[in-house]
Formats: sequence, structure tokens, C-alpha cells
Amino acid sequence: MKTRIILCGACGKMGGNVLSLLSTDEQAVAVCGVDLFPREIGIPVYTDFASVKEDADVIIDFSSADNLKERLEYAKTHNVGIVLASTGFTADDLALIDEYAKTTAIFKTANLSLGVNLMQALVKAAAEVLGDNFDVEIIERHHNLKKDAPSGTALMLADSVNEAFDGKKKYLDGRTGICGARDKSEIGMHAVRGGTIVGEHEVMFAGEDEIITITHSARSKRVFAAGAIRAAKFLHGKRAGKYEMKDLLAEENN
Ligand SMILES: NC(=O)c1ccc[n+]([C@@H]2O[C@H](COP(=O)([O-])OP(=O)(O)OC[C@H]3O[C@@H](n4cnc5c(N)ncnc54)[C@H](O)[C@@H]3O)[C@@H](O)[C@H]2O)c1
Repeated sequence: MKTRIILCGACGKMGGNVLSLLSTDEQAVAVCGVDLFPREIGIPVYTDFASVKEDADVIIDFSSADNLKERLEYAKTHNVGIVLASTGFTADDLALIDEYAKTTAIFKTANLSLGVNLMQALVKAAAEVLGDNFDVEIIERHHNLKKDAPSGTALMLADSVNEAFDGKKKYLDGRTGICGARDKSEIGMHAVRGGTIVGEHEVMFAGEDEIITITHSARSKRVFAAGAIRAAKFLHGKRAGKYEMKDLLAEENN
């Protein structure tokens, strides 16, 4: 049976990418959308979840951090899973997500690409081998409309590196002026913004006379849409709890 999806943020850029991929997907289908600014996209689109008439199995959310509770409450009361792909959640939002995960299946990640999730494991392994002899700097590049910096993905990568140091590294956003010699406890974070760059992340390990860089470059938003659909299929029928990319990969590799 196909996974029936409610697409929140259906009329946005990511919504469009998800719909386009679903149009040829034999295992999943968008039954309707929810969007603050509905327009004709080939499926019914409602301005709020209270108006949704269709039955569904999973919500894919590519909207914004606003009205999070409405989405979570709908998922809980209708017993559907929810893939939270929106970014920009506050500490209160994250606490709310944890609360709802007690009764609802919630998949959440700041980056839905398979490559970035592999990169997390690679940078952690590199940090374990290289240790304090190598300085770690993270450089991320995004389009000129991106609101937050550093990106959620850059922070996720820094956290993966930091796991190898038992969380002792501190994150330093950029450098300016006479900032003196580099402190060994730093992970430098650098955000570049320009044009239409979809998303690039580089983790650099700089040692004496040698440099290792691990890089991921997203060439289109389709990669995130594909990840969200994969996550929706994974979440279909799952029991309550919080899931992330590594759970999906573990299941697919079994
Ligand atoms: N996790 C990932 O891998 C990943 C990848 C790409 C984008 N994103 C995130 O997905 C979100 C959407 O990105 P986009 O590029 O499609 O943005 P967009 O602005 O093009 O589209 C967002 C759509 O959601 C609608 N919307 C906004 N708030 C809403 C709400 N509270 N309820 C219903 N509809 C609402 C808007 O009207 C718009 O149509 C952003 O938060 C972005 O950071 C995450």
C-alpha cells in the first residue's frame, strides 16, 4: 500500500520538489497540502490542518518553524508520523518535539541528504584518528536568502567532530581583528553567503605540512526532497519515538 502524505509547505520550493518526485513514485503519494499561501498545484491545499479531509499516513513538513504545535497535534490525534524537515526551531520547539515524540513517530534532521549523513560519520572517524594535532575548521556556503548562520548542518558536523573530543571543543564563529594564535580547543565556523548556492559544507583538518578536507556539495534541492520521501516511507507504521537519518540507514542496510 502506498504511503499517503500530507505535504506541509506544499506551495514552497521544497514542496514543489517533493511533489515532482512523488509524481513518478510507486510507493508514495501526496494526498493534499497545507500552506499559508495556497495556489493550484494539482492536489487540494488547505491553509490549516483543521481543514484537512484526506486520510494520510505521514506528514512531510517543509514549511517553517511557525505553528509547529498545530502540526504535531494533528499528527498525534490522527496517529500519523511526521517528518520535520523545516529548520530554525527554538529550544522551546525542540522541547515540544521531545514531548510529542512520547506519543507520535517523529523523524527530524537538519539535513536529509544521504551524503551529509555519511559525512558525519567520516568527520568523526577522522577526528578520532587525527586528534589534537590537527586544527578543525568548518566552512559552509549557501545562497544569499538563507536566514541562519552557521547552518544547522555545519553545527551538526561540528557536533560529530566534537564527539571524538568528548564535547570539549568550543565553536568559534569567524575571526576578525587581532585575534592572536589559534586556540587548540576551537572549531572555527565560517559562513559564506552568495547567489544561488544550494549548500556546501567543508570540514578541514589542518595539520603540520598536510591538510585533509571532507566536502559535501548539494547540487540541487531534489536531494533533500528525495531524503524526505525516503524518511516518510520509513516512518509509515513506526511506533512513537524520535527518529533520524541513522535509524533509516540502519533499517535499510539490514
Ligand atoms: N532538512 C533539510 O534537509 C532541508 C532542506 C531544504 C530546506 N529545508 C527547510 O525547509 C523549509 C522550507 O524551505 P523552502 O526552501 O521550501 O522554503 P519556501 O519559503 O520556498 O517554502 C515554504 C512554504 O511553506 C509555507 N509556510 C510557511 N510557514 C507555514 C506554516 N506555518 N504553515 C503552513 N505553511 C507555511 C510558505 O507559504 C511556503 O509556501 C525551510 O525551513 C528550510 O530551511 C530543510
